[in-house]
This record gives sequence, C-alpha cells and structure tokens, in this order.
Amino acid sequence: MPDGQSDQVTVIVLAAGGGTRMKSKTMKVLHPIAGRSMIGHVLSAARALEPSRIVAVVGHQRDQVGPHIQQLAPGVVLAVQEAQEGTGHAVRVAWDALAPEERTGTVIVAYGDTPLLEGETLRRFASFHRESAVAMSILTGVVADPTGYGRIVRDGDDAVRAIVEERDAGPEHAGINEINSGILAFDAEFLSTALPAIGNDNAKGEYYLTDTVALARKAGRTVAAFVIDDVVQTEGANDRVQLAALAGEMNRRILHRWMRDGVTVVDPTTTWVDADVKLAADVTLLPGVQLLGTTAVEEDAVIGPDCTLKDVEVGSGAHVVRTHAELAVIGPNANVGPFSYLRPGTVLGAGGKIGAFVETKNAQIGADAKVPHLSYVGDATIGEGANIGAGTIFANYDGVAKHRTTIGAFAKTASNNTFVAPVTVGDGAATGAGSVIRRDVPPGALAVTSGPQRHYDAWAQRKRAGTDQAAAAERATGSTETSAPDPGVGDAPVGG
Ligand code: UD1
Ligand code: MG
Repeated sequence: MPDGQSDQVTVIVLAAGGGTRMKSKTMKVLHPIAGRSMIGHVLSAARALEPSRIVAVVGHQRDQVGPHIQQLAPGVVLAVQEAQEGTGHAVRVAWDALAPEERTGTVIVAYGDTPLLEGETLRRFASFHRESAVAMSILTGVVADPTGYGRIVRDGDDAVRAIVEERDAGPEHAGINEINSGILAFDAEFLSTALPAIGNDNAKGEYYLTDTVALARKAGRTVAAFVIDDVVQTEGANDRVQLAALAGEMNRRILHRWMRDGVTVVDPTTTWVDADVKLAADVTLLPGVQLLGTTAVEEDAVIGPDCTLKDVEVGSGAHVVRTHAELAVIGPNANVGPFSYLRPGTVLGAGGKIGAFVETKNAQIGADAKVPHLSYVGDATIGEGANIGAGTIFANYDGVAKHRTTIGAFAKTASNNTFVAPVTVGDGAATGAGSVIRRDVPPGALAVTSGPQRHYDAWAQRKRAGTDQAAAAERATGSTETSAPDPGVGDAPVGG
C-alpha cells in the first residue's frame, strides 16, 4: 500500500435503476431470493469487508428501497440519485454523500442486484487491489456470450487499456469474451480526481463509471484485472426468468454446503433452504421440503416429505411429516404430521405429538403430551403427558376476545370435546366423549356433559318411509311400523 493511503474500505452499492423488466410493483433489488432481498445479500457480502462506510445509491422507488436498507443495515448511508444518468453519475452522488475525510482508502463499487456475490470474493478482490497498488481494479469474467456487458480491452502486454460498452463496441471488439462484472475497486484519491472528469459523450449519453479506466491510463496509472472463475456471483437478475435461475443456483449452493456439513438431502431438486436457516449434522431432509426464514433444525431430526417450515425450531430427533408450520417450536423427539398446521406461538414439548389434521395456534403443549387427531388447539396450555381426544375444538374466541384453555398434566380428554375458553381442566382429570366443557374441571374429576342416550323406536320407518334407510330398518326388524301413529316432534323416547 502506498504511503499515506489509509486501509479503510468504503463500499458503494448502486441500486437506483428502475428494474422495469421485472414488471413489478416491487423494486427490483427488493425481490427475494433464499429468504433475503437481493440487496440484502449484497449488503451482507459488503459487510464481510468490515467497511468503514457503506453507501447505497437509491433512486427509483426509493420510498421502498431506502427504509428496507435502513432496516437491514442501519449504518448504511443513503445517497439519492434523482435521475439515473449512468453509473459514473451514481458513484459521484455516493461520493458527495461522504464527508471529505471519509474519501480515503479503497472504494469498492458493487450493484444491488447480484445476490450470489460472496463476501469472500469481495475480500479477495479488495486485497488483490490493495496489493497491486493501482489506481483501480476490475473484477472481470470470461463468458461464452458477452452480450450486454462492457468488454475488457487489453494491450499487447495484457495490461487493461479500456472498458468498451456494448453499444460503443466496434468490430475490433468482436472477439473479446472478457467482461466487466461491474464490480470495481478504486484508490480513493484517484476516484476523487476521475469522477468529475467523466463525460457523457457516448451512445447512451450517460456518465459511464467505466470511463475511469481510460482516465487512469491517461494519467499514467495502471489498471488491474482480477478474473473470477465463478462468474455467476456477479450476475444480476433483470427479469423474473433470471430471478428464478439465480434463486435455483443459490439454493443449489446452500444445499451443497449443508450436505458437505453432514445433512442428508434426499432430493436436492425439490428441497429449498433459505440462506439464514441453520441445520445440524445428521439432519435428513426428505423430498418436497422448504425450510424458510430463520428455521433451525437439530441433529437426527427428519423433515418431510412435503413440509414448509418458516421460522421454526425443530429439536433433535424430531419427525415432521407433511406439515406447514410458522413461528413454532417442535421439541426433541416430538412427532408432527402428517397434515398438521402449526401456527405462530405453537410450542410442542419433548416427545410430544401433533397428529393428522390438527391445527394449533399460540399453544404450549407439554412434554409427551399428545393431540393426535382432527383438532383445533388455539390459545391453550396443555400439561405434560396429557392426551387430547380425536376431534377436539379449543373454542378460544367468543366473537369479541380470545381466551385461554388450560389442560392439566396427564389429563385424558375424550373424543369430540369442545373446551369453551376460558376454562381449566385439572391435573389428572378426564372428560367424557362429546362433552362441551364450560366450567373448570377439578383435578382427578371426570366431567361428562352429554345427556343420556335416547331411542325413538322405528323412527326411520316413520320419518323416512320409502327410502333405502327405511327399507334396511324394515329388513332388520321385520316391521314397517307404518300403522303406528306419528307421534310428532315431541314423542317420548324409549329406553335410555
Ligand atoms: C454496467 C457496466 C458494464 C458492465 C455491466 C455489468 C457501466 C457504464 N457499464 O452496464 O461495463 O459490464 O454493468 O452488469 O458502468 N445504476 C444506478 N444509477 C444509474 C445507472 C445505473 O444506480 O444512473 C445502477 C443500476 O441500478 C444497476 C447498476 O447501476 O444496478 C448497473 O447499471 P446498468 O444500467 O445495468 O449498467 P449496464 O448497462 O448493465
Ligand atoms: Mg445491467
């Protein structure tokens, strides 16, 4: 590093462009890939450089982009580019947003729409630039089809002479396959002198940042090129086709990383894992699994097939089958599914079970407690070892407010119960089938609310005469009972 040059790093992220090809209400750089916005990925790569400043240049839809960036990275300086007059103009706007004493060291320019860019790549590029002690460095790539990119023009001795933009390229540039990725590194002093010298006399009438190469050469300075093999890291998503392609590629990379760390992914083509998900070794992901947000899965857990888990914690050894869950905690060795719906606030204890066609919300279900079949459990606390019968509804909503139901430890509630909250069933208590529990049940008590069973003899023959039902009853009893007078609605039951 030349004397007097500070080792401080400033990153400028350009995100003012319109992104019209997305055809979206949502600004291009806000479109998500692997659970983060595209610009979120770029900012996280930028942070790997531990820069003293990040400046984001915003313009189009900045009412969306600005707050998003500030929420992700509160320290980022927002520079507003009112009209998009080119990348050179954008960097000038960023430069003006910095205090004079901050315009020192190394300046890295990146774009907000290259989600695959890795922090490690930026780190290597920045140290390459510093070690080369040049005015500027270009992160370049060699591609099969350079259409749309600025071409790297080299001298006979391989030194970089210029970047020629697609629209300004002539036949002499036809064979050039080395392209400007758009990611550039500058010596701050050079950038300060170069920015005001950039003109807009070109095919687009824009201020090209890439003109800094010719300016450096004119000043007798050297321009270095750092060729990246993994060009996809510098690719931007301009439309939804490219967005899907980059999302697929990022997912492939995320899955490879986890597989190398000891996670079994049975079918990588149908498994999607967001960037911020954490998996332990010996987790198994079966086909059709989406792990989203900040989901974390402990060792030996088996997820899938066909699960979507968003912001869910899964304990070690748990099994989760065909389940949709959000903001839930699944304890170690617990079993969930198939066909379960765990809504926010569900906490299932160790060894517990949430079974088929069960919906839970804001429900703490204790260790080894079970809700095996066909139930809605909302706003509930279920004690350890309790068993909830099939077809139980926790009636938590009275039409105005939500109320809580508490089921004690080791309580056994029967099938087809309704718990009308607020209500408490004591430890070790039980309920009868079909009960509607409105009052608290003391510990150890059996609560029964359904009335005694009543029979209305030959009801089918009388009320459903002429149907298959009546015919079956006649065959079984040998009697049509049609001569019996119709006793009407109030007829007395027989027996029971
Ligand atoms: C630019 C480069 C080209 C390179 C290519 C890589 C220039 C002149 N050309 O071309 O050499 O190969 O990227 O993708 O730099 N932006 C602003 N404000 C502006 C203009 C652009 O913020 O006034 C942002 C855009 O939002 C985008 C990025 O800068 O993220 C690049 O702009 P774009 O118009 O796509 O440049 P290209 O023509 O692709
Ligand atoms: Mg572009």
